[in-house]
Amino acid sequence: MKQETLDILKKYNQEHVLNYINLCTEEEKEKLEEQILKIDFEQLKNLYEETKCQAYIEERKIESISYTDKAKLSSERKEKLEAVGKNIISSGHYAVITMAGGQGTRLGHKGPKGTYILNTCKGPKYLFEIIVDTLKEANQKYSVTIPWYIMTSKENNDETIKFFEEHNYFDYDKTKVKFFMQGELPLINTEGKVIFDKTKQIKEAADGNGGIYEAISKSGLLLEMQNNNIDWVFVSNIDNVLSNFVDAILLGLTIEENQKIGAKSVAKTNPEEKIGVFCKVNGRAKIIEYIDLPKEMAQEVDENGELVYGEGNFGNYLFSRTVLEDLSNVKLPYHAAFKKSEYLAEDGSYIEPESPNVYKFEAFIFDAFARYEDITILRVKREDEFAPLKNKEGVDSAQTAADLYNAKHK
Ligand code: UTP
Repeated sequence: MKQETLDILKKYNQEHVLNYINLCTEEEKEKLEEQILKIDFEQLKNLYEETKCQAYIEERKIESISYTDKAKLSSERKEKLEAVGKNIISSGHYAVITMAGGQGTRLGHKGPKGTYILNTCKGPKYLFEIIVDTLKEANQKYSVTIPWYIMTSKENNDETIKFFEEHNYFDYDKTKVKFFMQGELPLINTEGKVIFDKTKQIKEAADGNGGIYEAISKSGLLLEMQNNNIDWVFVSNIDNVLSNFVDAILLGLTIEENQKIGAKSVAKTNPEEKIGVFCKVNGRAKIIEYIDLPKEMAQEVDENGELVYGEGNFGNYLFSRTVLEDLSNVKLPYHAAFKKSEYLAEDGSYIEPESPNVYKFEAFIFDAFARYEDITILRVKREDEFAPLKNKEGVDSAQTAADLYNAKHK
């Protein structure tokens, strides 16, 4: 190894990496060295230090946030907003991004989450296929072919592309589909040391859905959007099988309210529901995770008996392209999650731990919202638009997602 590499390992207390060299072939050794030189160990050191500190609690004033309830719009207003949105969609200025870079650890499916098969009333369907169905329907409605961008990660990019090739893009216009890869960060153990994967490389993982902003710009997608006059982009998750991501009403409302970001919410079913809520913190739009919302606030109701902090976030966001341009160089904070991860031990054995053993660092897409004065929020009906697939069994599982899908599509 070069002196430069050895110096880095020494400086950042990562000399255990040298113990893996005996396990490596010449080629693996070269790749490992390349990887070491690319990793920002200074950043990793700081992230590790932060896991040991008490979370910094900022002085925060939490207030409820205003929203528009789609169900309460008059048909006249709906038509007006829809016309504004329709104009943009049908003239080709609207694109859709599906975030599919996650690991889907809770679902435990081998392969990218979008390749999971859901048994529906229309027969077995891959999650990616469900998205194609929705896109095709919208294309017909607006007489366009909406560009579709899929965010992958290093872990699943090749497999995702291969899957699309094998399924002939589910007959979607292949030239309108683009894949772009998000960044990644090494996992570290409780001593701040990097761990190894089966390929004898340092184990890294996707850096959270907040990695989207950097990925859009670095991958050249932003340029592609500029060249194709895409002005608005809808971003949503791979794992919501009722996602309605071509929404002329949200688009019309966001434009009418003169905002650059729009988001959809669903009413929280009860104060204990484990869903983050939109609110204002120190005057700016934020999402507070259920765990961070004080209990009294979670239970507070207004004069109509509705929860004051009841606008549940389900990962449906609309961005004007200018926001994506603004955010391309912005570094969002990373949040540490303590997770279970298999790893290669120094003696070459492969360990599958039974309890969490590593820190994974993730940025959240919505942490960027606070950089803007305000955002538009449209409350939609859960049964129309929200059927998450997160777990193997129980809540938000294949069974519940299929039931909700079937109830809507029957
Ligand atoms: P989740 O936070 O539910 O994570 O992602 P996940 O990876 O799918 O599942 P778990 O937590 O490991 O079980 C919400 C959405 O954000 C995407 C996911 O693909 C999903 O569409 N995501 C998440 C990314 O694109 N990249 C990431 O780094 C993390």
